[in-house]
Amino acid sequence: MEVVIRPNADAATDLVARIIARELRDNPRLVMGLATGRTMESVYARLVQMHREEGLDFSACRTFNLDEYVGLSSNHANSYRHYMNHHLFLQVNIDLQNTHLPDGMAADLVAECANYERLIAENGGIDLQLLGIGQNGHLGFNEPLSALRSRTRVKILSPVTRAQNVPLFPRPELVPHRAITMGVGSILDCRRCILLATGEEKAAIVAKAVEGPITSMISATALQLHPECTLILDEAAGSQLKESDYYHWVFENQPEWEPFRAVSSPIAKNGIQAERQLEKQPVEAMSDVLE
Ligand code: GLP
Repeated sequence: MEVVIRPNADAATDLVARIIARELRDNPRLVMGLATGRTMESVYARLVQMHREEGLDFSACRTFNLDEYVGLSSNHANSYRHYMNHHLFLQVNIDLQNTHLPDGMAADLVAECANYERLIAENGGIDLQLLGIGQNGHLGFNEPLSALRSRTRVKILSPVTRAQNVPLFPRPELVPHRAITMGVGSILDCRRCILLATGEEKAAIVAKAVEGPITSMISATALQLHPECTLILDEAAGSQLKESDYYHWVFENQPEWEPFRAVSSPIAKNGIQAERQLEKQPVEAMSDVLE
């Protein structure tokens, strides 16, 4: 696992979008695993901007979303299919036939889950999985006690998760009670995982996910088992990490991050000055800067 802490949410978002764009340019047939939630909205906005301004090409890529509510049809305003169409799919040159979400209206939900796993496998598995994190540490809708080897299945949403999603629904009682979600094991099978978390309200759960023990009570801790996983945070979401100096050190010195250290984002604001200052420092002086 690697942890990258950027000065603000815009810079963290921009880094995630640039990683996705690079993978997509390297492999136009990339199989992307996608996530929903408020945090992801700005990532998709940035990708749409890259498509319009830089010609980022989605025409050959394939996507699989982590989850979908049970009981909401694809054209329901609160379904994740609607969210994805609105924030990304209908704004870029993706072939909708290549975009996949579980069908929360399927008559046979068990068969639908098995079918989703089969479809991912038929497409060669997920190359790059984008992840957010719930207040209780869930990935997708892998609520507390989700087996670390679980596959796509139906989960009951916890009270914490339903409360977290209330602002997205017209009325609290309309938040569904169940969802189909890729399992923790399905996520661990993805070749690369990128988790984005921003804001102080995620700080405590991020610290547990990164520096706490692996436990099925917090599915994000399972990412410690993943061979290629990066958590990208803003300062606020990283504020309860004990070893943040070390994470900064790795980001500044790891050669693979070289193309990503410079800030290119037109949406990065406050972060620009801080990052430029860091970039000017010789490696030997970095520990002083970071203290
Ligand atoms: C939902 C999704 C998760 C996502 C979470 C975070 O629960 N199922 O995949 O990580 O929301 O949401 P937000 O970004 O709004 O905090």
